[in-house]
Formats: sequence, structure tokens, C-alpha cells
Amino acid sequence: MKDPVELLDELKARIDPERVPGHVAIIMDGNGRWAKQHGEHRIVGHANGVRSVREALTGAREIGVKHLTLYAFSTENWNRPESEVNALMDLLVKTVVDELAELHANSVRLKAIGDLESLPDTCRDTLKDASRRTAGNDRITLTLALSYSARWELTEMARRIAVKAKAGELDPASIDESTVSANLCTAGTPDPELLIRTSGELRISNFLLWQIAYAELWFTPVLWPDFRKEHLFNAVLDYQSRERRFGKTSEQIVPR
Ligand code: IPE
Ligand code: IPE
Ligand code: MG
Repeated sequence: MKDPVELLDELKARIDPERVPGHVAIIMDGNGRWAKQHGEHRIVGHANGVRSVREALTGAREIGVKHLTLYAFSTENWNRPESEVNALMDLLVKTVVDELAELHANSVRLKAIGDLESLPDTCRDTLKDASRRTAGNDRITLTLALSYSARWELTEMARRIAVKAKAGELDPASIDESTVSANLCTAGTPDPELLIRTSGELRISNFLLWQIAYAELWFTPVLWPDFRKEHLFNAVLDYQSRERRFGKTSEQIVPR
């Protein structure tokens, strides 16, 4: 019988390095249900999700993904009990502080997107410091979406463009899709080709609505704290088995 390491290597070897998605986005869901299944408090589920973040990041880096964006806390998540929100913010700070040296050693660039001004000071400062310190790293960019929602982002984009137009810096007639993209928090980052959501929920929950216009979606019942490299590799293999037509016919993609 093959050991798990061998099986993982075999799975990885099946991935075509020429067609690895440049940007993978993940809606990390199911921490609360995982905790319940284990008879623990919800926050124990969040704490156990940190290992899964490490697995997803390492796996993505190993196969050559250049951007990994993780939905860590949504605008709507502010409506959770205060104790859970506080525990999540504390966990975020602790994780970034604990992992920073390792991230840096692996040439990971850390970024954060979202309404960062609404985060507690320690959280915002920790993120800013980590982003600044890792700004020169280029193996993979890990973007954490925090106090993020796509509708918030799109509203901010509209406001930014309106301000520029009013100041005479931008002609409204010249506004096109690239103007919109350039005024989102993800400006400069290519759109995700693959979006993963764990925990069996089949929804987007206000994540990257503009950017995922043509992303391939991959859903799994696996709860986030159980997510491992093998799940990422399976998602990428599934992605590589699909025909991305972008409105064209199959015959136009593969001439027969
Ligand atoms: C995802 O897990 C983490 C966050 C949204 C912060 P959940 O906490 O949503 O877990 P479930 O959906 O209740 O199981
Ligand atoms: C989405 O998960 C947000 C994050 C993963 C951070 P939720 O668990 O909050 O989503 P809904 O409310 O069930 O759609
Ligand atoms: Mg959830």
C-alpha cells in the first residue's frame, strides 16, 4: 500500500505545470460546524483552520500558483457575536505574527484587502507591518480579504471614479472595464481563474463579484479545518479538465 506522501506526490505529478491557474481564491468555510462536530467552541474551529491556510499556501506555492486570495472575514461577519469577532481578530494577529518569518523565508508577499480602517488598531498595524516587510517577495502573493465584501468594494470603486471625474482627472466617456478593475482593491492583480468554497455551501457570499466573472468554481463538502494540499491539487486537476470557452464554441477552442 502506498503511503500518503507518495499518493500526494502522484497527485501533484498529474498537474500540468503549463496550465496551473495563476490566481486561486478560496472561501474558507465550515469552521463552526467542524468545531461542533468535535464538541468544541466555534473558535477552536477557527484556530484549527490556520493549519489549512498553511496547507493551501504551501500547496499553491509548490505547483506555481502566483496569487492566493483567502476570504477570512466578510463585512457581514461583523454581525456575529462580539466574542467570536474579537477571538477572530486576536487569532489573525497571532497567526500573522507567528508566521511572518516563515512567510518571508518562503518568499511569500502578504497583502490585505477590504475595509481595513474598520479593523481594530492592532490588527491593522500588524497587517500593514507584515505587508511592508514582505513587499519585496515574489514567489507567491497571499491576499487576505478582511472586512471585505464585493458590494463594499464596488461602491468604493464608484466613489473613487466619481471623485476623479469631478476633479477633472478622468473623462466619464473614457470609463471602460479596465477603469473599473484599476479602481478595485485588487488593482494590478489578475482575476482568479479558480474559486474554491469548502463546507458544501453553494454560494458566493459577496466575494470578488467583479473578479470572478469567468472563474471556474469548485465546491467541496470538506470543512475548512480538514482542508489539505490534496484537496487543492484535486481542485486544480478538475480545473485543468475543463474547457474554458469564454463564450466561444468548443470547435473554436479545439479545432477538429
Ligand atoms: C468560516 O467558517 C470562517 C469565517 C467566516 C470567519 P464559519 O465560521 O462560517 O463556519 P460555519 O459556516 O459556521 O460552519
Ligand atoms: C463567508 O462565510 C465569509 C468568509 C468565508 C469569511 P460565511 O460563513 O460568513 O458565509 P454565509 O453567511 O454562510 O454565506
Ligand atoms: Mg460559514
